[in-house]
Amino acid sequence: MVSKGDIKKRHDDLKQLLDHHNYLYHNNDNAEISDQEYDALFLELIQIEANNSFLNISDSPSARVGDKPLSELEEFLHNIPMLSLDNAFEDQDLFDFEKRCSSKILNKKIKYSCEPKIDGIAISLIYENGTLIKAGTRGDGISGEDVTHNAKTIRQIPLKLKRIKNLRHPNKIEIRGEIYANLKDFNLLNEEYAKSDLKVFANPRNFVAGSMRQLNPEIASSRPLKIQLHSVGYISENDFFKSHNHMLKVFSNWGLPINKEARLVNNLHEVIKYCEEITKKRHNLDYEIDGIVIKIDNSKNQQDLGFSSRSPKWAIAKKFKAEEGTTKIQSVSFQMGRTGALTPVANLKPVKIGGVTISNATLHNMDEVVRLDLRIGDTVNIKRAGDVIPKIISVDKSKRKKNSQIILAPTNCPSCGRETSFFEKLTPSLTSELLENDDKSCYGFDQFKETLKHFVSRKAMDIDGLGEKTLNLLVNKDLIVSITDIFNLSKKDFINLDGFAEKSINKLLESIETSKTVKLSNFIYSLGIKEIGIETSKNLSRTFKKIENLYSASLDDFLLIEDVGEVVSRNLLEFFGNHENVSLINRFIELGLNLVPDEAILKNGLLSEKIVVITGKLSNYSRDQLKNILENKGAKVQNSLSKKTNYLIVGEDAGSKLIKAKELNIEIINDNELNRFIE
Ligand code: IVH
Repeated sequence: MVSKGDIKKRHDDLKQLLDHHNYLYHNNDNAEISDQEYDALFLELIQIEANNSFLNISDSPSARVGDKPLSELEEFLHNIPMLSLDNAFEDQDLFDFEKRCSSKILNKKIKYSCEPKIDGIAISLIYENGTLIKAGTRGDGISGEDVTHNAKTIRQIPLKLKRIKNLRHPNKIEIRGEIYANLKDFNLLNEEYAKSDLKVFANPRNFVAGSMRQLNPEIASSRPLKIQLHSVGYISENDFFKSHNHMLKVFSNWGLPINKEARLVNNLHEVIKYCEEITKKRHNLDYEIDGIVIKIDNSKNQQDLGFSSRSPKWAIAKKFKAEEGTTKIQSVSFQMGRTGALTPVANLKPVKIGGVTISNATLHNMDEVVRLDLRIGDTVNIKRAGDVIPKIISVDKSKRKKNSQIILAPTNCPSCGRETSFFEKLTPSLTSELLENDDKSCYGFDQFKETLKHFVSRKAMDIDGLGEKTLNLLVNKDLIVSITDIFNLSKKDFINLDGFAEKSINKLLESIETSKTVKLSNFIYSLGIKEIGIETSKNLSRTFKKIENLYSASLDDFLLIEDVGEVVSRNLLEFFGNHENVSLINRFIELGLNLVPDEAILKNGLLSEKIVVITGKLSNYSRDQLKNILENKGAKVQNSLSKKTNYLIVGEDAGSKLIKAKELNIEIINDNELNRFIE
């Protein structure tokens, strides 16, 4: 029999091996083994852990995901406040900084450590004897939020610091840095979100902040978050690092990512040269920075200089100048956003600002046009701050030509040319928004088509064969003028249309007919009520059971629904309280809509009332697809395991859920057994 000692030894070796390969892959871009070899080691690790409860798994690579979602974030108190940095805008500010410092320290040959100032969110990682214990956000600098569950999912953060020969890990150290996202990853993800009709993030910083504040660690785990470490808060051993540069080297040897551009320079002239270099390089970096941090390198000098209440006296941030330029307004066009509101956009005579050619600027809304008193042909000053869309900051009226053309909101839809009033006939839910919107809004053709696309989509009415092309055709020919017209289509509508064979017409009409019998939740979702996703629709359906019950519900009734807060409640109340929307639903019913309570399907399904959890990557389905299939068979799909869970479906790269499922004696369904299971 294998002894406990042998098992522990193999477990320790596996933890170390996996940490090592994880480091090479994520921090060094230099993998030594294939993904399959890594997976095999990981599987061995979780099997050992599942069968031997005496092992220490707190620092195991298996502990990265699998924490339960929290109900709220706990407070994270900083041992030492997280301060700000003083700003420098001109080179003179740097000379003044040096003068202030050198009057207080003996060192006359000050060396500086310079590095980019990352535009991410500040994080504090607490390591005790080399093991990650806790992670917290900055908050107000005194207390932030405990985000350990999410930090642990970031593969670049070592759960255990590597050992350095002849250097013990401090008993306790608080290492500070920034969580950020690479621009390439961020842009790709945003594009995917936009395609799936999900909310896109305004900038990488918001994306990172939102990801780190999630209660469910699976979300952070699925997001491309990165980290760089740049300073120390509390440390149990004084004089552990002799300089900032030494600290960065130690960080790197411990396996913590540091900034590749960090440089130790010999004097202030070299600092200024460094700043010029980074400023030039700025837009070639794959992450956003908002300045350069300059720190006196020597730790003893840092201690002598100390802190003010706001910031350390030994460091300063050289901020980038907002990049500004002057150009002319050639025209103003109106773009329709996802919500249907028209946004005026200034088309500019192209101008180069900070190495980037700018040819348009946002004007937000008509109020902004009025506030600026903007006219076509005006000479304007524009500003590019960070990588956001450029903004017009002022108009040079001295350069305005006589009789310059004022800017009016369009009375016709910019995408199809029809009068705005035409769209009031389309659907009542759209019209009600149209009326209450102060900006000159137009729910143009594009918007109506979006509504239809949503209505027929898989999670909504799931009408096969009614794709974007066909919808466009039917709308352009005025065969669909209101959303309910979909249920009224007949063979004769297609007779004069190109590209429709008898067979495909029959098929399409058949799938429209089939779609008329639909789960209440899918129908609620198909209505496209603001901020009501499929999950909320399911919760509504479960509680209200019949569509009529929604018409008389109060704000408080809605607030009782899971996941529904103040804003969503109001949206629901406004939608179902509007008699035009009720008429619309009644018209659907007249045309054959047959709403089936979700419960009915649940009770008759093959997996009726069974609780299923999915973990890992599945080879044949996306999570959403599988969830849908299981739910249609009556299963409840949940995120975390409990004693009540009946099945755990396990894909590739499964984390600690697998171990837990074994502990709880839950039946495990592997990827290759999945089809049989579903059938
Ligand atoms: S050193 C007293 N180095 O900027 C803070 N900070 O405005 C000393 N930041 O909260 C921190 N990049 O989160 C330092 N390379 C860098 C930085 C950096 C970004 C953040 C940091 C701090 C904020 C201060």
